[in-house]
Amino acid sequence: MVRQVICALDTGNLDEAIATVRKLSPWVNTFKIGHGLTLPNGLSCIDKLQDAGAERVFLDLKFHDIPNSVGLAVREAARHNVWMMTLHLTGGPAMLSAAVEQADAFSAEKRPLLVGVSVLTSLDQATLTEHLGVNRTIEEHMVKLSKDAIDLQLDGVVCSAFEIKPIRDAIGKHGIIVTPGIRLSGPTHDQKRVGTPHQAIADGADYLVIGRALTDADEPEAVLAEIGLE
Ligand code: C5P
Repeated sequence: MVRQVICALDTGNLDEAIATVRKLSPWVNTFKIGHGLTLPNGLSCIDKLQDAGAERVFLDLKFHDIPNSVGLAVREAARHNVWMMTLHLTGGPAMLSAAVEQADAFSAEKRPLLVGVSVLTSLDQATLTEHLGVNRTIEEHMVKLSKDAIDLQLDGVVCSAFEIKPIRDAIGKHGIIVTPGIRLSGPTHDQKRVGTPHQAIADGADYLVIGRALTDADEPEAVLAEIGLE
């Protein structure tokens, strides 16, 4: 079982998602779902994916709202046995603390992991500075938000392959780093800031999110062999 790989199920079709889980679950036990699957199918799709072999479900809905609303969202997601979920770190300390408080109300076995998103890779420096009024570089901003998140007891952060090293240096050994945009020798699709699995792990990532390279593969076992993680 390749425990460091999280397979992204980027489809709105639950039957297709279930078929992918069945196909990959001999090797991968962790699957990421987002709005595309949960809006048409509801959170009960999590049970169906678990029945199909998804031991761990990563709910990537990037919560961002007032503390009370985010607390409710975290509680509902945790009730559906979500293993890990995302929040926007720009929601601020009170929002993040409300999320942690709700997660902590669950037993150790059921407590979800909370990971924070700092700057989306779709934003560039000009947007950050001119439209969002942030006078830091993207990297400085990501490092600052990520460090604050760990200080506020979040379990980890999401970042691209480019920011793993500085964020790992800033947060130390204990926070989880989750990295999407990983590419093997195949096509880069619409991704620009891509990294290889080995470099990402060497820089300090704990989990790699891999979507199409796995879900589109005729021989997923060969793709996982190329990734070469345990
Ligand atoms: O198919 P691919 O490997 O590009 O899928 C990557 C997954 O990671 C998708 O679910 C995408 O939404 C997500 N993601 C990303 N880049 C980010 C954050 C999340 O590609 N910065």
